[in-house]
Amino acid sequence: MVTGTLTSLDRGYANLPIPYGWFAVALAADIPNGQVKTMRYFGTEFVMWRGGDGALRAVDPFCPHMGAHLGIGGQVAGNDLRCPYHHWRFNGDGGVTKIPYTDAISPSMKNSCLPTWPVEEVDGVIFVWYHPHKVAPKWEIARIPACPEGEWQLAGVYDWVVNIHCREIPENGQDYQHFGAVHGVPGPPEAEFKIIGWTRRNTVVAEMNTPRGPMEGMIDVTATGPGQSITEFKDVTHVVMNQQVTPITAEQTHVRWQLYHIPGLSDGKLRVTQARMRDLVNQIHQDIPIWNNKKCEERPLLVKGDGPILAYRKQYDRFFDFDEPAPDIKVA
Ligand code: FES
Ligand SMILES: [Fe+2]
Repeated sequence: MVTGTLTSLDRGYANLPIPYGWFAVALAADIPNGQVKTMRYFGTEFVMWRGGDGALRAVDPFCPHMGAHLGIGGQVAGNDLRCPYHHWRFNGDGGVTKIPYTDAISPSMKNSCLPTWPVEEVDGVIFVWYHPHKVAPKWEIARIPACPEGEWQLAGVYDWVVNIHCREIPENGQDYQHFGAVHGVPGPPEAEFKIIGWTRRNTVVAEMNTPRGPMEGMIDVTATGPGQSITEFKDVTHVVMNQQVTPITAEQTHVRWQLYHIPGLSDGKLRVTQARMRDLVNQIHQDIPIWNNKKCEERPLLVKGDGPILAYRKQYDRFFDFDEPAPDIKVA
């Protein structure tokens, strides 16, 4: 299968900025206690570690002492990160907690001398807040909705690296005419598109192909910021897709899915649910070769019926506005 462009065509994505926001960088289970990991996203790197207390911390990669890369040989010491070069230790605020050969640590060094990244774990996913000017978080990470009956069953975990800017992947959901052409399903006959602050809601009543033939179903998308979309599929079954898109660079995106279904399904319903989930995975596999090779179309030649692509981009422009200040109220 062709997974990337085979030519040196300029596809234009390098000219788009990398948006700010909360972005998934790993699954919680990927970083056990006491582990240090170098993360490569947003066209840069940072170093994340999980202390003995189980909490995650993240800092810029280079030690302010003499510039060693903290992710190359750095070790967790208690809850702190120890630099490989002269064994200085740093806490999650970027403050120096120990220098093995002196007690003369200035208050400002103790306070913070290494830039940090806000980190949170939500629904088994590790998110960091990225902003090129280090402006504080502006919204909270969304959680998957409460399960109507008991606990959601995690039924599938997937990830893909796609050669495209991250704006294009959620945009696909507003591109009504590709549903038939690419996925063989009818476009939404009734769709609601709403922007509420940092959130976008799409509610679509669509005819779906199920193993029992076509039936009407509801697709309810809540996208929070540029990095996270939670979609509920309610038809013969009830599935939640927790999707995260994270820019590796302006031209490459890491897509993650965690698929959940309701508990207590009969064998028959479970088979239908698994078929539904396979169908979703097939759909992204249909989109990926197009994404890997298309160009950035800043002025698309849109016609009647194409869907709210420009309204989507209008909201998205806010995630490129790096001068908009953080809100006065600190977001938890
Ligand atoms: S460079 Fe990190 S302790 Fe010296
Ligand atoms: Fe698609």
